[in-house]
Amino acid sequence: MAILDKHTILEKNVTLLAIFAFLVVTIGGIVQIAPLFWLENTIEDVEGMRPYTPLELAGRDIYVREGCYVCHSQMVRPMRDEVERYGHYSLAAESQYDHPFQWGSKRTGPDLARVGRRYSDEWHVDHLTDPQSVVPVSVMPKYGFLSNKLIDGKYVEDVMATHEFVGVPYTDEMIEAGKEDFAAQADPDSDYDGLLERYGEDVQVRNFDGQPGITEMDALIAYLQMLGTLVDFSTFTPDASR
Ligand code: HEC
Repeated sequence: MAILDKHTILEKNVTLLAIFAFLVVTIGGIVQIAPLFWLENTIEDVEGMRPYTPLELAGRDIYVREGCYVCHSQMVRPMRDEVERYGHYSLAAESQYDHPFQWGSKRTGPDLARVGRRYSDEWHVDHLTDPQSVVPVSVMPKYGFLSNKLIDGKYVEDVMATHEFVGVPYTDEMIEAGKEDFAAQADPDSDYDGLLERYGEDVQVRNFDGQPGITEMDALIAYLQMLGTLVDFSTFTPDASR
């Protein structure tokens, strides 16, 4: 009873109440935030994750430029309906090299976090050029102009250096070979051994849009085809030590 009586002092004095409320919120805040300063990493390392190749990175920039995130999310939530439709729920590590992340907040179209390797390149070209030709009821805009825009990776090394600056583990070697790797990934007749050495054997090397020359369409499809394919979920087990 005595402690409740004392509480009436706080309830009757608004200044005192404000001070105590502030103290409580401060302590709560410190308890939540402070441990993060001592944790080395809040993201669990997951096998298979690697930085984007130069061509994928360029494709990702086109994805952001065209506002694809306005209609598409890239995060599978750990709920049964989502996991059954899209596949394994997204891991924090899967967006650890995303600056900015593409989780999105709206799904006018489906989630794209695991769209990689789900459709053929030709399907993507047809769909991006004229979505209604493959999905008649689609409200997605046409992006055929991407096929007409040739790109040469002029800025890709600078973009990689910027990502390195914010923590993506691009090595100096990767950045120096940026333009070369950019071109190699879209040309199966090129010498792409260096690209595979730097980014792994699973990198998809193809003429993505099927036409000569590297276009924005190539870069965007290279990006879409790798989404969600890096982590092998047939062998993945969450780290139980945490
Ligand atoms: C106005 C909203 C809107 C925008 C902007 C948009 N989309 Fe879509 N997208 C949709 C809708 C709706 C669908 C489902 C119907 C269909 O397949 O066309 C879709 C489907 C897709 C699919 C097939 C996904 C699947 O699992 O079947 C891909 C891939 C895709 N969009 C990529 C993109 C890319 C890349 C961009 C940006 C260049 C983009 N979308 C921009 C609305 C949009």
